[in-house]
Amino acid sequence: MIDEKRYAGRIIKLTVGEDELIRKHFVRKAAKENELFYHNELVKAGLTVPRLYKNAEKAIYYDYIPSIHYLDVLDIWERDEDSDFSIWQPLAEWLCKLYKECPGVVVGDPNLRNFILDTERKCYGIDFEEYRQGKIIDDIGLLLAYISTYKPAYTEGKKKVCNYLIDYFITHLNITRPELVMTITKQIAELEHRRAGKIMKGKRKYK
Ligand SMILES: Nc1ncnc2c1ncn2[C@@H]1O[C@H](COP(=O)(O)OP(=O)(O)O)[C@@H](O)[C@H]1O
Ligand SMILES: [Mg+2]
Repeated sequence: MIDEKRYAGRIIKLTVGEDELIRKHFVRKAAKENELFYHNELVKAGLTVPRLYKNAEKAIYYDYIPSIHYLDVLDIWERDEDSDFSIWQPLAEWLCKLYKECPGVVVGDPNLRNFILDTERKCYGIDFEEYRQGKIIDDIGLLLAYISTYKPAYTEGKKKVCNYLIDYFITHLNITRPELVMTITKQIAELEHRRAGKIMKGKRKYK
């Protein structure tokens, strides 16, 4: 092992010989098992995910993907005056493929840090700990609630991204605009409630 650096929280980036890896540490065994189970389901379904390198006792090792997560994509997209929506298509396509190829499976925690975009503009899903059986509309609604409320919230740019994604999802999935808009409103209220609770407890950082 030549090099090791903390990448984000319990994620460590390692270089082992020629290999660049991500080590994800787990305290809860059930969380690790859920992550492995859904990683395997997604691989079988042909979704783009980092390759599993090693399953250790308290950690999972994946190939490191040179990439940025979609929260940084959003930030860059909002600063760039000439930006078009093409950078959002890989994420939208990835999610539609998930819902079609893995019936009933949802991301569970569809915040933008759980999707990364590589240098060839390919989207990868990461972080399968909260994947589960659930309703597509709630998953999409929560994704759009996250996008709307990242700080600074409700900007013109974020509204445009949300409208693009709403159009995409109602065209490609079996959901209607009114039910999706209603779900986003409900999810925003729940997110704000959860975040207010965390601020009361002095935990200001949120996803
Ligand atoms: N295989 C990977 N390749 C590149 N970056 C990764 C990889 N896995 C995780 N990351 C980075 O680490 C961050 C956190 O990883 P994640 O699996 O979501 O763990 P958690 O949310 O529990 O901290 C991601 O947002 C991403 O930036
Ligand atoms: Mg995550």
